[in-house]
Amino acid sequence: MKKMPHLVQYQGSKRNLASEILNFMPNTFERLIEPFAGSSAITIACASENRTEQFLINDLNKPLIDLLKLVIEDPEYTSKKYRKIWTDQKHDSTEHYYQIRDEFNLTKDPIYFLYLLARCVKGAVRYNTEGLFNQSPDKRRKGTSPLQMEKNIYNISSLLKGKITYYSLDYKDIFNMALPGDIIYMDPPYQGVCGERDSRYFSGIEHEEFVEELKKLINRKISFLVSYDGKCGNKIYGNKIPVKTGIKHIELNAGRSSQSTLLGKNEITYESLYISSDLYQNKYIFHKDWKENELFTRIS
Ligand SMILES: C[S@@+](CC[C@H](N)C(=O)[O-])C[C@H]1O[C@@H](n2cnc3c(N)ncnc32)[C@H](O)[C@@H]1O
Repeated sequence: MKKMPHLVQYQGSKRNLASEILNFMPNTFERLIEPFAGSSAITIACASENRTEQFLINDLNKPLIDLLKLVIEDPEYTSKKYRKIWTDQKHDSTEHYYQIRDEFNLTKDPIYFLYLLARCVKGAVRYNTEGLFNQSPDKRRKGTSPLQMEKNIYNISSLLKGKITYYSLDYKDIFNMALPGDIIYMDPPYQGVCGERDSRYFSGIEHEEFVEELKKLINRKISFLVSYDGKCGNKIYGNKIPVKTGIKHIELNAGRSSQSTLLGKNEITYESLYISSDLYQNKYIFHKDWKENELFTRIS
């Protein structure tokens, strides 16, 4: 896969697994739908590879979607405003960060959010129980330079401008919009840390309900892929999807986890990918690293 642009480092981004995930998608299809878009790594990857000309992205985090919309539809305004906010931080950049964070929590201005994403610790979005962004600044860096950010913004915009629709709804509302011929790629909030509530993101999802929603997609003959649970060494994180119908489950080698590297271990992280049977059966390309885990049989 050719080098793929990205806006900022975003914790949980699927950029590193994008080429693996795209192996299970056809060379061309009607439309890609990302109901849990985050930084939209898979949308950007599909656009880079010309898999489709139509995209729908959604995320419950509205400032994030507002930001992606500005980046894609108005790269000039976005780059200029980022440059201004970034340049203003020269005297006391930590204090500046906290000021912008307060401003963002008050106004929800998406470009403030871009600056916070570019400067916060590990690109990791964190909210308090009142829904206020509360992640600290990374004191060792000043965040992506305006020149680099401008490049990132224009690269993404040139791939997606005029091809995309934007929503900020609950994922179930987005499922209802899908049609046969579309592909839905889902990367719901990480469910390994604290069950259905995860302060990394705006909201969590309820596991049983999610499984029921997937069954409905199967009945409606909608093609999909879901990144969900995973394992690192002997440690399993997240619930498995217990669907017995129309789904295949494989594991993708996501490389050595930074945590186990720190601890001097050599543990590989595997991330589950659940694939609707129609996509799996087409067997577009199979990467040598995948291994089939379970063959589910049809129950309905
Ligand atoms: C793991 S991240 C997605 C990361 C993405 N794959 C990427 O490459 O950056 C999950 C996203 O789901 C969003 N989210 C959480 N609950 C949601 C819901 N009920 N409906 C839609 N989006 C939701 C979060 O705001 C978060 O951005």
